[in-house]
Amino acid sequence: MLKPAFAHFSALCLSLLMGSAWAAPAAELSSPDGRLRLQIELDGEGHASYSVQRQGQLVISPSRLGFLLSDAPKLDRNFALTASSKRSFDERWEQPWGEQRFIRNHYNELQATLTETSGLKRSLELVLRAYDDGVALRYRFPDQPALKTISIGEELTEFNIASPGTAWWNTAFEWNREEYLYKRTPIKEVGLAQTPMTLRTNKGLHLSIHEAALVDYAGMNLARVEDRRFKAMLTPGSGGLPKVVRAAPFATPWRMITITETAAQLAESRLMLNLNEPNQLGDVSWFKPMKYVGIWWEMHQNLSTWGSGDKHGATTANALKHIDFAAKHGFGGVLIEGWNQGWDGDWVANGDKFSFTQPYPDFDLERITAYAKSKGVQLIGHHETSAHAANYESQLDEALDLYARLGVGAVKTGYVNDAAQARVPGTDGVVRFGWHEGQDMVRHHLKVVRAAAQRHIAVNPHEPVKDTGLRRTYPNWISREGARGQEYNAWGNPGNPPEHEANLVFTRLLSSPMDFTPGIFGMKTQQPAGVATTWAKQLALYVVIYSPIQMAADLLANYEANPGPFQFIKDVPTDWSETRVLNGEVGDYVTIARKGRNSEDWFLGAITDEQARTLTIKLDFLTPGQRYRAHIYRDGAKANYTTAREDIVIEQREVRPGTSLQLRLAPGGGQAIRFEHLGAR
Ligand code: NOJ
Ligand code: CA
Repeated sequence: MLKPAFAHFSALCLSLLMGSAWAAPAAELSSPDGRLRLQIELDGEGHASYSVQRQGQLVISPSRLGFLLSDAPKLDRNFALTASSKRSFDERWEQPWGEQRFIRNHYNELQATLTETSGLKRSLELVLRAYDDGVALRYRFPDQPALKTISIGEELTEFNIASPGTAWWNTAFEWNREEYLYKRTPIKEVGLAQTPMTLRTNKGLHLSIHEAALVDYAGMNLARVEDRRFKAMLTPGSGGLPKVVRAAPFATPWRMITITETAAQLAESRLMLNLNEPNQLGDVSWFKPMKYVGIWWEMHQNLSTWGSGDKHGATTANALKHIDFAAKHGFGGVLIEGWNQGWDGDWVANGDKFSFTQPYPDFDLERITAYAKSKGVQLIGHHETSAHAANYESQLDEALDLYARLGVGAVKTGYVNDAAQARVPGTDGVVRFGWHEGQDMVRHHLKVVRAAAQRHIAVNPHEPVKDTGLRRTYPNWISREGARGQEYNAWGNPGNPPEHEANLVFTRLLSSPMDFTPGIFGMKTQQPAGVATTWAKQLALYVVIYSPIQMAADLLANYEANPGPFQFIKDVPTDWSETRVLNGEVGDYVTIARKGRNSEDWFLGAITDEQARTLTIKLDFLTPGQRYRAHIYRDGAKANYTTAREDIVIEQREVRPGTSLQLRLAPGGGQAIRFEHLGAR
């Protein structure tokens, strides 16, 4: 039992005795398996901090907690622990769609109240959770006379990494938002990083620092202050307003640290989803995970245009052609970009010109959607906003009503514009310039998702706010971009290097689905390096990168010309009942096996960076006593991401559960396998 007065007194004594700022724990909490231990400490000046141990070894050294407020004294000292309680929780919940069907949510929780012993005597509540694969904490601001409205200038949460090691990170506050190549540096050389940030300590532990349930708050970035000590740096408010303004009571997003032995376990953790609230939408069976084709790569390859004119891509004839192709090959959707008025001229700068209801005259929206319906295909709508969220919000209801009437069940939105160039209404209705992850944009995204859910429409934003697991609460928030996707291979300078996807799996993808748009066979593009992977790797990406909607991104002609490898794209599901990460090292390679949600088939994807590798995997995920035919799509003997990308071998053979398989991956290569279930032995 906790004795707050004593805890405070002993903290003071200890720090006086030892001449140190840190003292005995005021409260502590262990994970269900006892491996992780989380402690709250108070120093002699009443500064609160937390620390984390794993099997008795410090993982996070004492790290301070608190807030700078923009209209009141800061909240970070003279604290005493005035109340605390604990509880345990264990449930198994079901995802309506996902990378795995059932998820266990098992944790111990500590709620603690910190109260200022002098001055305004304000209280701040902490909720801490210890899971077997990580820890999390959030703040709660109770309603109290001295803090009715909270205007946050900065959050003072720290992450003080106990051991040296390596970090994989993406720069924060750069003009191109999340679309950079991940950097790999010693932890002590990280600058200003976005989350999730991935670390591997010299002791071999893998850590991911991120946040969960980012709702009505500013996104969190990480600034390295000194050595291995990081501090939260919230995304600024729009128009110079405080970073966060909220009325009490409210809770912040969770600050979470996933802690696992291997990189593979990091990718198998569902900590972020567990920290989110359960589904608030009820039955979402109206959203069907699917693969889609689209009028898209042709624009990125400069073969047609979004804007009107001779080269306009979104014509009625082109749309009907894509619908026919989708119907013939079993694709659920067709994405069509550039269908609506507003693309002519500098569309990035002219976000206010977009109409979300008026098609170009050569695009017969009614006819196209009726035709799609008759063929059992859905149109995937497209709303590029150029980050003019205010223009979009002013048309949101009409635009979504139109799609609902036409049977468009999913919409890809887009927020192309430089960082801090979003134009977004505040709660006062005034439109200001804002960052893509500022509080106003965080609100905007949820507004769109909720409005779409009311009409049974799913949402897939590009240039989005980062993913923090809100798909659990709003399962119509199906995917997003939020990293360099395939499009960089069309025109990037440079394109994506071979290690890119092996980085993504252990960084960006820890935060959930990505609309990466795999499946390119036409490897020559507008940029000199072209698509720097082998064909087999393009196929493997359908398994390795999880998303409930996956594009077959290439030109239809390239699929028609290559029915062999195209067969894998046709066969691979986008909804899974199980996921196993069989091996992997951050930025080097990874192998993932997944079981389809609607069949007994398993699928496997393995990818490597620029190095050739042979990986041995055990087929222990296949059900014993059952027969499987492996449809193997592997790199040929000469395959290489620079000289022989198309060298692929497609073969079939029966495999036995429990036996081993050698996967030979070429430089920049991969391997994709469908394990077709044939029945009992
Ligand atoms: C950037 C998106 O990532 C891309 O997919 C889209 O085609 C363009 N914006 C235009 O909306
Ligand atoms: Ca983009």
